[in-house]
Amino acid sequence: MEDPTRAHHRADQLSARQRFDEVECTISHLFRWPHPALGGRRYGEALLQSLASRGIGPGTSGVIEIGGGAGHLAEAAFRGEAGPFTRARWTSLDLSPALLAAQRLRLSGHAGWNGLRGDALDLPLRPYSVDGLVLANEVIADLPVVEGRNTGAVRFVNQLSRVLARGGAAVLTEFGGDFEPGPVRLYTTSGKGEHTEWSIDFRTLRAAASENGLEAEELPLHELLGVDLRMRCASYTDLWRLRRFTRCEVFAAPADEVRRRYPLLSRFLDLPELGSPRWPDASAQRGFAQLFRALILRKP
Ligand SMILES: C[S@@+](CC[C@H](N)C(=O)[O-])C[C@H]1O[C@@H](n2cnc3c(N)ncnc32)[C@H](O)[C@@H]1O
Repeated sequence: MEDPTRAHHRADQLSARQRFDEVECTISHLFRWPHPALGGRRYGEALLQSLASRGIGPGTSGVIEIGGGAGHLAEAAFRGEAGPFTRARWTSLDLSPALLAAQRLRLSGHAGWNGLRGDALDLPLRPYSVDGLVLANEVIADLPVVEGRNTGAVRFVNQLSRVLARGGAAVLTEFGGDFEPGPVRLYTTSGKGEHTEWSIDFRTLRAAASENGLEAEELPLHELLGVDLRMRCASYTDLWRLRRFTRCEVFAAPADEVRRRYPLLSRFLDLPELGSPRWPDASAQRGFAQLFRALILRKP
């Protein structure tokens, strides 16, 4: 029987806006435009520049992005400043027909961009063929889970070991840590797109990497991106409150900007520091700074 989360993404009909504004608003979605907490850079620029500073590049195979969502990371490399990744060859593999169509539209001017419909657990790539980067940003929590354990993410690491050539690297970002997985139920007001994801037990991924002969380095995602955690910004919770009364974009709007645009409504908002456990979700026990990790895998 097909895993329910896989079936959810394979049959996805939601628009990119509905999915990321209303169902699963990713950190990269909140930072998709140049942001002062990232030194004026987009999330994709900050991530790719940081990887380049660690000696990771596009190689001859370019970037293979798994689960590119609305295509903002690819767009940052296409239109922005992403070091050696700027306008590099970029292949996007996604299970969702709706999101792949959104990416194709966003990247229509980029001659080096290609989109493929496919599954992270069955990468259509030859063994040892990737000497560049495989990027899976907030994707692995969407892979199949058995009794709360994300067995899909472990199978994905096995796939990476198969396709990476010497010198190639992979970067996986997700929420989780060195603790037992817990469920996160994703709700919407319309009921569309609801599903459950489980936090990632990063110990199992590091163990899988080691068994497969991959070198693993893990660090907080904010450290990789160089986020100024002292900055106060709108959380999802603030944005949901605001959107009940007015139209506003779903992004990590800096507190000063929110106060200037909505002088009255902003009095009822939290606008926490990015390092607070209340950002991006005021009802969660841990936030972006405490929970989001980046795992860098290299084939030595
Ligand atoms: C939470 S979204 C993340 C999107 C984007 N990377 C971001 O940071 O906003 C998960 C993405 O993974 C895709 N996806 C889910 N399961 C997949 C699978 N088994 N194989 C390939 N892509 C998958 C979804 O369609 C979606 O594009």
